[in-house]
Amino acid sequence: LSAVSRALGHQSASRGTDVKMNDPVENAKRLAAYKAVDNHVVDGIIGIGSGSTVVYAVERLAQRVKDEGLDVICVPSSFQAKQLIVENGLRLGDLEMHPELKVAIDGADEADHQLTLIKGGGGCLTQEKILASCAEQFIVIADYRKASKSLGEQWKKGVPIEVIPSSYRPVAQKIEKLLGGKSELRMSGSSKAGPVVTDNGNFILDWRFEGAHDWKEVETTLNMIPGVVENGLFVGMAKKAYFGMSDGSVMEQ
Ligand code: 5RP
Repeated sequence: LSAVSRALGHQSASRGTDVKMNDPVENAKRLAAYKAVDNHVVDGIIGIGSGSTVVYAVERLAQRVKDEGLDVICVPSSFQAKQLIVENGLRLGDLEMHPELKVAIDGADEADHQLTLIKGGGGCLTQEKILASCAEQFIVIADYRKASKSLGEQWKKGVPIEVIPSSYRPVAQKIEKLLGGKSELRMSGSSKAGPVVTDNGNFILDWRFEGAHDWKEVETTLNMIPGVVENGLFVGMAKKAYFGMSDGSVMEQ
């Protein structure tokens, strides 16, 4: 299993349906994912994000293909997403064949009122950001724990940053010098297993910041540091977010 599959506890959609829907968080994820798929997906090329909420989006897509004859090609953002697409019998595509997507649907670790996002809890931020940038509409699906007034309120692990392995120390030092806070190399479950390795063969730094920031500026600053591949701040990319709530409703933002 890839880093993200391990980190997120890989679930196939069929196992997803087994999840007890009396779990309010799982139910919230499912409600958000189903609504987003129903409201935004028509025939065409669809970007598939990564994480546990996306499992439900793929499940719903597969249902619609079977029930309505929906005609979609799915472009994955990770090894996990690719497996989900294949396991659900959906058509798999890539950006080489399909560089323009109608819609990309993805989860988030945190979303503020402007729909600025922190993503990359599963380490797939680079490919997720590429997909989002190729989509006419980038739609976020999440449970109620992810909505916040300002970033850092809910997600305490910081901004994930994908880096070239040999550069992780100088990059970490430069981030701290330029932006303050603390950068830590993300380790696998037990630190003896070594660093988490992304689908692209890179490492992840988690930058724990303090206070409010101009996130567009931070995003640019991070990406200017040699060795940084991409960072998990998504600023001005999301068109709409669906948050499944604990009372069974869906909040649209
Ligand atoms: C993976 C991501 C995920 O979208 C994010 O971590 C949210 O995951 P989940 O749906 O499991 O809460 O950015 O890199």
